[in-house]
This record gives sequence, C-alpha cells and structure tokens, in this order.
Amino acid sequence: MINRRTFLKFSSACLLSLSNISHATVADYRTLTIKLRTESRHWFANYLPIQLWASDIKALNLQQFETVQIEVNNQLPNPTTLHWHGMRVKNTMDGVSGMTQLPIATGASFSYQITPQDAGTFWAHAHHNTFEQLARGLYFPLIVREAKEYIVDQDLLMVIDDWRINEERQLDIASLGNFSEWAHGGRNGNILTVNRQLNQVYQCKAGQRIRLRLLNAANSRIMTVALPNFAIWILAKDGQPLAEPLKLDKPMTIGPGERYDFIIDINMSVGKFPIHEVSSGKNILIAMIDVSANEQQQQNTHAPAALPENPLPKIDPNKIKHRIKLDMQGGAMGGLKKANYQGNLLNVQELVKNKQIWSFNAIANLADEPLLTAKSGEMIEIEMMNNTRWPHAMHLHGHHFKADSSFYPKNIWHDTLLILAGETTKIMFRAGETGKWLLHCHMIEHQASGMATWIEVT
Ligand code: C2O
Ligand code: CU
Repeated sequence: MINRRTFLKFSSACLLSLSNISHATVADYRTLTIKLRTESRHWFANYLPIQLWASDIKALNLQQFETVQIEVNNQLPNPTTLHWHGMRVKNTMDGVSGMTQLPIATGASFSYQITPQDAGTFWAHAHHNTFEQLARGLYFPLIVREAKEYIVDQDLLMVIDDWRINEERQLDIASLGNFSEWAHGGRNGNILTVNRQLNQVYQCKAGQRIRLRLLNAANSRIMTVALPNFAIWILAKDGQPLAEPLKLDKPMTIGPGERYDFIIDINMSVGKFPIHEVSSGKNILIAMIDVSANEQQQQNTHAPAALPENPLPKIDPNKIKHRIKLDMQGGAMGGLKKANYQGNLLNVQELVKNKQIWSFNAIANLADEPLLTAKSGEMIEIEMMNNTRWPHAMHLHGHHFKADSSFYPKNIWHDTLLILAGETTKIMFRAGETGKWLLHCHMIEHQASGMATWIEVT
C-alpha cells in the first residue's frame, strides 16, 4: 500500500528532472516550497488593485514533531529572510538577517529545516528590513496541529492587520521610515483587514464549537477585539495552551506579534454577528460571523477541555542562575540624553542622525556583546523596566517565558509580552537551544530605532 508520505515523495519526484529523483526520494522528511512574491488584492472598487508582498500560501500547516524541509524561494525585488515567530527551532533556522543567516537574494532560495516542538498558533514573517517588509505584508500564519487531534466543529483563522493606504488606494510607501513615528508609537495604518480581506465573513452553524486563532500582524498597532456575545474561552496564548481554558467576557487586547486561540460556542440564534476593533473608542467593523440554522445541533453546555501540554522546559523560580535588569529608555518625551550605538557613546542628536532613539541598558540597537550568556538549561530572570512613555511588545526568539505581569492572566506562557508605560515586569525562562537569540520590541519601528538586544546560549 502507498502511504501518504511515500505518495508525497513520489508525486514530488515526478515533477523533478530524472537526475534529481534519487535525491528527492532519499529525504525521509516532507519537503515543501514556499514562494515569496507580490500579491494583488482588489480591496477598493474603482481603483487599481493594491500591491502587497506575500507568500504563495495562505497559511502553513505543520504537524507537531514532524520534520519538514521548507524551501523558501525569494521572487521579490529585495533580499529577505523568514523568521518562525514562537517556534523553538535550531538557531541557524531562526531567520534573523545578519545574525543567524545572510539574506536570501532575489531569485535565490534558502532551506529551513524545522521540527515543530509545540502545537499551536505561530507565524512566519520577514526578518530583514522588517519595518518595511512587514508593512508590505510579508508574513503568513503557521499552524502546528496537535499530535492527537483536538476536536472542534471548525478551526478558523483571524489574522488582523493594519495598513497605511494613500489617496490612490495603494500602500503608502513614501511614509515608510518616518522617524517621528519611530520615536512615538510606530507606524499605524488607516485600514484594518482580517485575513487580508476588508470584509471577512465566517460562515458558522448555530451551536457549533469553533476554535478561532487570533494573530496581530501589524507593525505597531495594539488592537482590542470585541467578539460577539457568545460563550468564549481563551484556550492558548502565543501557541502555548493554558492549563485550564479561561472564560473571556470582555474585549481582548492583543499586541503586535501576539496570538490567542479561543474556543467560541456559537449561539443557537441565526443571524449576522459583528466583530469590532474597539481600541480607539470607536467600533470598527472588521469581520462578521454569519450564523445559519442547524437542525441537529444543541448548544454546548460543557466547558472546553484544555489542550494537551507542549513539552516546554519547566520553570523553577528557586533555581535562577542569571538575574538581569533591562532598563528600557527613550522615545518621544522620554528624555534620553545619550546611549551607546555601535560601540560609541552618542548624544541624542547623534543618535537621531543614525535613526536611533530607544535604548536597553543605555545601548541603542544590537551590540557586539550579548545582554547575557547562559548555558542551555539554566534558569534566567529578566526584570524589564519600561521607563518610557509608550507601551512595548517584548519578544524573545526561540523561547517561551512566564511573566509576573498583572496585565495578563496568571501563570501563562508568552513569547511576546505587552509592557505598559512605566511598568516593570519580570520574565522567567530556561535557556534553550544554543545560539544567538534576539530580544526586541515587536513594534517594529521601535526595534529598528534601538529596542533590540540578544542573549547567547552556549
Ligand atoms: Cu516576530 Cu524578531 O520577530
Ligand atoms: Cu516598543
């Protein structure tokens, strides 16, 4: 009998020239190709379609613990890389341009080999000139299926993004790199999309149990999503299951790069139920749940089960080996006087000339020296002090951590964490794979203008 894997190998071998067949059949893991290219979207009637940067897939679906070889082919006019946000990959596969790999030139390919350790909701995005490439849309959601299927009636994606459009209804490229925005809240757009659509409609049946995977793919905008008044639980955060699903009864705030998986029990009443983004105080309609009749189904009355745990290293607060402070400074109204940039102590005028305005421990952007060096397996605590007037979304590559933030439910895992202006939060994690791992603000303009450092795991 021909199993699925043999079949995949067989069918891909058929596409190759004869000389490649032996090579293609030797690999004992699945290989797939992703093309990065431009994409046209007809968002506005009577205007030319908008040109975005994208991949040729809507979403990447992987299976927990199954190794895949992902050939990324760059058909864009600029070099790029892909970073697998939230995935615990080998450091050489982390996709950080200039740190873990060279950028993939136009026309060239790079093979990422990944064995997903954790089931959940992740994403892949450009990590080269990220402030430009993410604003152009170069990302896709990445779903890692649980080794044992978690059963729901529908598994839906809600990738929310924020774009800046000019009068011709094209991406506003001219304003990319606007330094005043970098010193404030970053680049904010003027339209919101869900799954790259202006009018996403989810077709559901009364009484269905839905898993909804929410991802904020914006450069810098923090969003607050008001879902319809159904029974809703938080199932997972940043790809990691909550020990117990948590009832959600208010709009959900989500920072750039963060993800939430929800369980939604659709009501028995038929009709259209709006989803709004409400962070500005106004209700912005971003999507709709269209509920149709369902003869058989009853309303669920039992709470959803937790997802199976992922094999994350255990946190032990009593065994902390490295205690580090991270003093976050700068930005508009921050009163930054000087900072070290590329080995030189610069005053604020000199920093601004270099498009730098934020600092971690008085260092703007990446230095030759890491923030800390730890051995794999050692416990680390970083006390992050947001001494700026702005919220930040701190992201650690290749690791998940716990935090003592009062902004979030207690004792959940994160790979990205909002820290409000003036707040201090401790994060705790165990050093994972060896290599160089970035720690940066996921408001990408803040990252570009100073909010980036790295840790070294040996
Ligand atoms: Cu999602 Cu360094 O990024
Ligand atoms: Cu920031």
